[in-house]
Amino acid sequence: MRVQDELDALLPLKGAPEDRVVEAMRYACLNGGKRLRPFFVMRSAALFHVDRRAAVRAAAAVEMLHCYSLVHDDLPAMDDDDLRRGRPTVHRRFDEATAILAGDALLTAALGTLADPAVHTDPAVRCELVARLAAASGAHGMVGGQMLDLLAEHRDLDMPAITRLQRMKTGCLIAFSCECGGIMGKAAPRLRQALAAYAHDVGLAFQIADDLLDVEGSAEDVGKATGKDAERGKASFVAVLGAERARDQALLLIEQAVSHLEVFEGRATLLEEAARFVVDRSR
Ligand code: IPE
Ligand code: IPE
Ligand code: MG
Ligand code: MG
Ligand code: MG
Repeated sequence: MRVQDELDALLPLKGAPEDRVVEAMRYACLNGGKRLRPFFVMRSAALFHVDRRAAVRAAAAVEMLHCYSLVHDDLPAMDDDDLRRGRPTVHRRFDEATAILAGDALLTAALGTLADPAVHTDPAVRCELVARLAAASGAHGMVGGQMLDLLAEHRDLDMPAITRLQRMKTGCLIAFSCECGGIMGKAAPRLRQALAAYAHDVGLAFQIADDLLDVEGSAEDVGKATGKDAERGKASFVAVLGAERARDQALLLIEQAVSHLEVFEGRATLLEEAARFVVDRSR
């Protein structure tokens, strides 16, 4: 896959004394994963006829940021997980300090990659991409969601609070992935809004599906330990609604997401399929 090759090229080993951190970054990124966020970048970019090579680069940047979030999410101070994508987590394979540094460096590499002229000839577009990714992943986006997730281990949240947590923790980065192509292609505001609305629903459905897999999946299939959310008292739709109603909610969100694609008049069928995959997946 092109994104895999791009990540490989963006994370070269230099034969330098600090190479260990790059090895950990490569271990975190080049080990499979569904590549869902890159898919959203590539498909949204294709809708607006963005140069494919530029889109692949932006997709790789988003995947680096996602991988950083997984490396830190698995740390002992956070979810304390030993298995990720069917392999030992980065802090298990290397050590905790190296995992923290590899995550840090993946975050900065993601932003640096988006700022590179190879992503877009217009510096204003590159600035917007960097600013939007920073906002989506910062204290009022993904990191904020992770903070709420940890705080919620010790108290009960109501549905609006859980929805907000999930939208921040997972939804913001998925939303950026879907809007990325619109930004690069200088899409009309109406079309950008449609993608944002689609992403809003898909992002939430995605996290509900992740929480369902934690309850219903096996570590072998999912590639990470399951049954841990209930153990740690994680706030989720599944915890509050039960599995069946949570699944119904996810399916409803997907239908809603697909309806936002109508403005593309049949040109976004792959995004429709992706939305359905988000809730049908087994890993
Ligand atoms: C897992 O994301 C973390 C969440 C945001 C729920 P993915 O399920 O997309 O993980 P990979 O990239 O396929 O490993
Ligand atoms: C992690 O959510 C979300 C981010 C990394 C931002 P989870 O903790 O549910 O993800 P998994 O289940 O470990 O993949
Ligand atoms: Mg977590
Ligand atoms: Mg986790
Ligand atoms: Mg999970």
